[in-house]
Amino acid sequence: MQLFDVYPLYDITPVRGEGCYVFEENGTRYLDLYGGHAVISIGHAHPTYVKAIREQVEKLGFYSNSIKNPLQEELAEKLEKVSGVKDYSLFLCNSGAEANENALKVASFETGKSKVIYFERAFHGRTSGVVAVTDNESIKSPFNKGHQTVKLPFDDIPALENELQKEDVAAVIFEVIQGVGGLDEASTEFYKAAEELCKKHHAVLIADEVQAGYGRTGDFFAFQKHGIRPHIISVAKGMGNGFPIGGILIDNNIKAKYGMLGTTFGGNHLACAAGIAVLDTIENENLAKNAGNLFEYVKEKAAEIPQIKKIKGRGLMIGLEFDFEIAALRKDLLFNYQIFTGAASNKNLLRILPPLNIEEKHFDSFFEALKSALKTYK
Ligand SMILES: Cc1ncc(COP(=O)(O)O)c(C=O)c1O
Repeated sequence: MQLFDVYPLYDITPVRGEGCYVFEENGTRYLDLYGGHAVISIGHAHPTYVKAIREQVEKLGFYSNSIKNPLQEELAEKLEKVSGVKDYSLFLCNSGAEANENALKVASFETGKSKVIYFERAFHGRTSGVVAVTDNESIKSPFNKGHQTVKLPFDDIPALENELQKEDVAAVIFEVIQGVGGLDEASTEFYKAAEELCKKHHAVLIADEVQAGYGRTGDFFAFQKHGIRPHIISVAKGMGNGFPIGGILIDNNIKAKYGMLGTTFGGNHLACAAGIAVLDTIENENLAKNAGNLFEYVKEKAAEIPQIKKIKGRGLMIGLEFDFEIAALRKDLLFNYQIFTGAASNKNLLRILPPLNIEEKHFDSFFEALKSALKTYK
């Protein structure tokens, strides 16, 4: 059987990872400044993580959500402690799309309404409801287009107010810093207005922290910088450092009902062991702080490169905007300098999403490579 051919592949086969590096069988080492789409939070094969997963699978890898699983409670308690957000309940699932899909479902149950507001350049996943609120028509099938959605410009308070005034909106979903869209962040006024307007018009505010959350921006959640309290926060990616786990944190004012949400695999023993090890490591190694500090270093280094026109993002969610399209540069960095970086829908933007325990020396290597590669561009 062949694989369903939906991914354009690089001719690279990593077989092993360690910290900020992945290796091919022949020993070729790649610096991972992309973390497989912002997934690797605590580094490849972190010893705490490997030990936790190994020990858990030796005991019990999985049982269903119809029995008690104290690891879920431990994960929820740790998440509250490390993130600093209070009075939320946790529902566990398996991916970012599933997290957002559940968030929209809860919002619709809670409000009895079905329309969802999303923003230009948003990306919330590829399953039915969330691809409908993603700003990319080419990945929506006719089936996905049956949802009631409204796309608004980002950072436009009057447009948001105008739509919410219609009183038929179940949810407003947003990324505090847009990932795939190109690292744009709206103003604090906008986020605060969104919070107020959602309260006033009985809509649920959903912060999609799938990419920006888990310490990546220097805060545990990117919205914390703006002093708001979303009703629902969705998480995935860095939560499991590669183990498939996602979740939503739901304000305790929203009440659960049996059967309202559910999943076979979500919150299984092995996923929880991975998730707990990630939180322990983020806390013990001060990884959010490291992310925040390193951004300052990256800004200084990037300022030395004239072709970089803008540095976007925060912490270790970084966009370097060039004055030309970066597709060829990315390939050059990968194949000639063995450095993984990412792209965005803004074709001039190089996305940097490394493991959160990356060090200055890794960025030194990157900027040296970048300077050398740029000699062939303009
Ligand atoms: C902000 C955001 N939300 C949701 C998703 C979807 O997550 P997943 O691919 O785990 O379904 C992504 C993935 O890139 C994302 O960046």
